[in-house]
Amino acid sequence: MKEKRPRLGVLLSGTGRTLENLLERIEGGRLPAEVAIVISSRKDALGLLRAQRRKIPTAVIRPKDYRDSSSFSAEITRTLETNRVDLVVLAGFMHFYQIPKAFENRVVNIHPALIPAFCGEGFYGHHVHQAVLAYGVKISGCTVHFADNQYDHGPVILQRAVVVLEGDTPETLAARVFEEEKEALPEAIRLFAEGRLRVEGRVVHILPL
Ligand code: GRF
Repeated sequence: MKEKRPRLGVLLSGTGRTLENLLERIEGGRLPAEVAIVISSRKDALGLLRAQRRKIPTAVIRPKDYRDSSSFSAEITRTLETNRVDLVVLAGFMHFYQIPKAFENRVVNIHPALIPAFCGEGFYGHHVHQAVLAYGVKISGCTVHFADNQYDHGPVILQRAVVVLEGDTPETLAARVFEEEKEALPEAIRLFAEGRLRVEGRVVHILPL
């Protein structure tokens, strides 16, 4: 199958470990993609520095500078389009981005649990792992999915499972889940690059090579 190097637009709000992982894989020739723009919702996000260090274009788009979620999202879309982005990656982005028709099935999110469990508004960061442990499930994991205009809702691309261990804390569980995220997200991007993802309703079919 013909492989193309998609231009990624990475949206983040925090430490950017997810971005770092993608960049290391791209730099190591293990992921056919390039990061065209990093958009941060905070001026002081460490993720911005990681991009700037590599001379990757960055933009800061803060919700508080816009009158509502629509105008905030419109500015994000404008910036993505200006930078000719093929695929948008929500990499620890803490705000709602209203996805326009033009980006339908071209925005991926990584969530640190097995959707449809432990997801939706308010389920982010350690809240997710706390909820997993409080519920007592024995398996958690991570999900990469196409984002739509509901929290953690769009069609699932890939999931990886993690066994919950006796004595786990939100921190120890988060660390093991993150190791799986580091594999799942690049894999999903690779499948996108190879043109192997076909969405039918809620189901993402992975086409053979
Ligand atoms: C990850 O746990 C991911 O599942 C969630 O945000 C976290 C990444 O944040 N969407 P960062 O890359 O450490 O900033």
